[in-house]
Amino acid sequence: MKRTVVVGSVNRDYTFLLDHLPDRGETILSRRSYSSTGGKGANQAAALSKMGLEVAMIGAVGADEPGERAVEALAAYGVSVDHIIKKNVPTGSAFICVDKNAHNTIVVDPGANGALSCEDIDSAAQVIAEADFCLMQLEINLEVVAHAAEICREHGGKVVLNPAPAQKIPDELLSLTDYLIPNETELALLTGCEVNCHTAVAAARRLTDRGVKAVIVTMGEEGSCYVDGRQDFFIPAAETSAVDTTAAGDSYIGAFLSALSRGYEVRTAMEFASLAASITVSRQGAADSIPLLEEVERLL
Ligand code: RIB
Repeated sequence: MKRTVVVGSVNRDYTFLLDHLPDRGETILSRRSYSSTGGKGANQAAALSKMGLEVAMIGAVGADEPGERAVEALAAYGVSVDHIIKKNVPTGSAFICVDKNAHNTIVVDPGANGALSCEDIDSAAQVIAEADFCLMQLEINLEVVAHAAEICREHGGKVVLNPAPAQKIPDELLSLTDYLIPNETELALLTGCEVNCHTAVAAARRLTDRGVKAVIVTMGEEGSCYVDGRQDFFIPAAETSAVDTTAAGDSYIGAFLSALSRGYEVRTAMEFASLAASITVSRQGAADSIPLLEEVERLL
């Protein structure tokens, strides 16, 4: 079986279910609130493990209750947590507002995620060297991501980068990236282009021109599109009834990579990923809402 390592964030999510997202200067009451394990790194590691992959996570939490609960939750999903280290900084937290149309806004306080260092990556270098895929996001420092990408590529692995939250990425890191998986907002920030389903291919091509091997743009209910130096194609989103779009992208990415690892063609892996995301958005929560492999297979 192919091995995947996730180098990324672990958060405690505090979710507020609202009628509408607050306007500037507005105070509103939530209909309900709850907390759960999240973080793009943790969610993607959970997705990979739930979909049957062997996955190790490299990350950082604080020496606190949210950190302990997150590590326990990841271990329960089957993720190897030996390289999630404890820092003297609180566990990262995310404040998520979800409106009645299932749209969300998220504010992240990186906490311990921001303390993950290149030295920590060196201590876990063997895990990266042995992985077929190294999956990362941008809730940890960019130089840490670049360092892990170098180790992965030196040992013949493939680098998969979800550039979230969006920020500028240097060309050196782009050229180490085999699959870049942004959403429309992230692609717009990376390229300076306005991105919608009509312009996504042209915008993504700017990044393949800068050295990324392939770009997959996730566009929620508009579907997703694939672009590399030779071809591009579009995959429609699977039908669903959304209640909370948190972790939709995370489950898409985990499912895509798990399908690729099982030998699916990219196009079929994207269709599989759309089905996984359609289940995730029909449930509340982040890591918890991501489906198991058999749940997705039932929809095939
Ligand atoms: O992608 C969803 C995740 O973004 C949430 O779980 C939250 O922790 C933020 O990192």
